[in-house]
Amino acid sequence: MTDVRRLEPSLIPAAQAFFRRIPEADRTFFKEDVLDGATVSSWAHDERSRRLVGVEEDGTVVGYAAVIPLHGWSSHVGELRVVTDPGRRRQGLGRDLARRGLITAIELGLDKVVVEVVADQTAAVAMFQALGFEGEALLRDHVRDRDGKVRDLLVLAHGVQDTHAILAATGIEDAVAGS
Ligand SMILES: CC(C)(COP(=O)(O)OP(=O)(O)OC[C@H]1O[C@@H](n2cnc3c(N)ncnc32)[C@H](O)[C@@H]1OP(=O)(O)O)[C@@H](O)C(=O)NCCC(=O)NCCS
Repeated sequence: MTDVRRLEPSLIPAAQAFFRRIPEADRTFFKEDVLDGATVSSWAHDERSRRLVGVEEDGTVVGYAAVIPLHGWSSHVGELRVVTDPGRRRQGLGRDLARRGLITAIELGLDKVVVEVVADQTAAVAMFQALGFEGEALLRDHVRDRDGKVRDLLVLAHGVQDTHAILAATGIEDAVAGS
């Protein structure tokens, strides 16, 4: 049983161990140096962004989601990032974290959530589309992986305030009402 909860100071060591287990290719999604312990420690005190973790009964962190509000003229938009432990994929955790990320975006009063996915990551694209995200932009050759190969980046978006029908369809509205 995996519990999704807000990252709090007591979970920092388990979160740091999670980031060390994530393959380097998947770490690029974080955009931050998650191997830097100080970076992860600072998140527990970050009031502007919200960080969630999937925690097993023994305290092991097996998934992570972040909702990061943008600045200035896009301060109504939040970026969602989701990564799960490769050993725990295809068990519903990624979807659970993404759903909780959307709920968190609503709680933060954001109007729109975007997620950046490498275009050929069909699993991730399918997961976000099933939650009501739609393709909004394709940035060609925007990502260069560690082998130097360039790949397209897909920006998916979800208008969280306008899509209560979608929220209801994905079970999110009930979760918001019950939270
Ligand atoms: C994308 C990611 C978060 C999915 O995590 P997960 O824990 O496997 O997700 P779930 O088990 O909840 O799967 C949800 C849905 O995603 C799709 N999916 C996930 N893995 C898939 C795969 N290998 N092949 C096809 N579809 C897949 C399916 O639609 C699945 O629903 P289903 O199992 O009912 O068919 C995970 O693969 C990951 O961390 N990838 C690297 C980071 C990344 O790409 N993040 C997204 C951008 S921030």
